[in-house]
Amino acid sequence: MTEPAPHAASRVALITGAAGGLGGAVAARFADAGWRTALQGRTGHLPRLASDFPNALVVAADLLDPEATADAVAQVLERWGRLDALVHLVGGFAMGSALDLTAEGLEDQLDVNLRTAVNAVQAVLPAMLERGSGSVITVASRAAVHGGARMPAYAASKAALVAYARSLRAEVEPSGVAVSVLVPMGTIDTAANRSAMPDADPARWLDAAELADAAVFLAGRGPRGRVPYLEVHPSL
Ligand SMILES: NC(=O)c1ccc[n+]([C@@H]2O[C@H](COP(=O)([O-])OP(=O)(O)OC[C@H]3O[C@@H](n4cnc5c(N)ncnc54)[C@H](OP(=O)(O)O)[C@@H]3O)[C@@H](O)[C@H]2O)c1
Repeated sequence: MTEPAPHAASRVALITGAAGGLGGAVAARFADAGWRTALQGRTGHLPRLASDFPNALVVAADLLDPEATADAVAQVLERWGRLDALVHLVGGFAMGSALDLTAEGLEDQLDVNLRTAVNAVQAVLPAMLERGSGSVITVASRAAVHGGARMPAYAASKAALVAYARSLRAEVEPSGVAVSVLVPMGTIDTAANRSAMPDADPARWLDAAELADAAVFLAGRGPRGRVPYLEVHPSL
């Protein structure tokens, strides 16, 4: 059976890291807001993503592989003919003292938090620049702004991501492509965090749905109302 043609006005968001703790809320909120969604995951997560979001296009890619990343973006463009937003949720957290940080440990954090973003951006930008519109959203962290004990590589890699996004914005926004950094200023209430910190009080954490709303808000800004940097805080 042929899929019905998409409504011409439907915007398309590619959400990377969609199988992660924040991914489900972001995928759901974009769909609720009328966006078509393409959900990137790694192979093992694809059946769950497809079953949780039957209307989404699910694409597989390791974002450390530029060719696989470009191929995933090509699938989105082939399916829907446009790509309006990249919501780059892929990231990773590692703890350890600054004294014990190894070259590999530093590289791993730069890979997952910066290099995946670079690859995703390079894959989506040509189509966005060609249309003269689009939105790139990256997700930083409180540590990128304030640092944090026993997380030097994580903090440095997220700070690098912020600097990368600001530089990207300076380069591409005059051509119509917006770039925003979403900054969760605390722990997000995810299943993984609940299981890793059973004694903590999740009421003091950020609500994933609120962050997802913030991502939808960022993706919808027009050229005369850009929001390049948005901190979202939990209750004091
Ligand atoms: N959770 C928090 O408390 C918190 C706080 C502040 C900021 N953040 C940031 O918010 C974002 C979302 O957080 P989250 O809790 O949803 O993270 P998460 O649960 O760890 O999800 C991250 C996702 O990235 C994927 N990923 C990692 N490396 C990849 C690669 N090379 N190629 C493709 N996918 C890859 C992971 O896939 P696999 O499952 O296959 O590994 C996972 O699905 C991240 O950028 C994170 O750093 C999170």
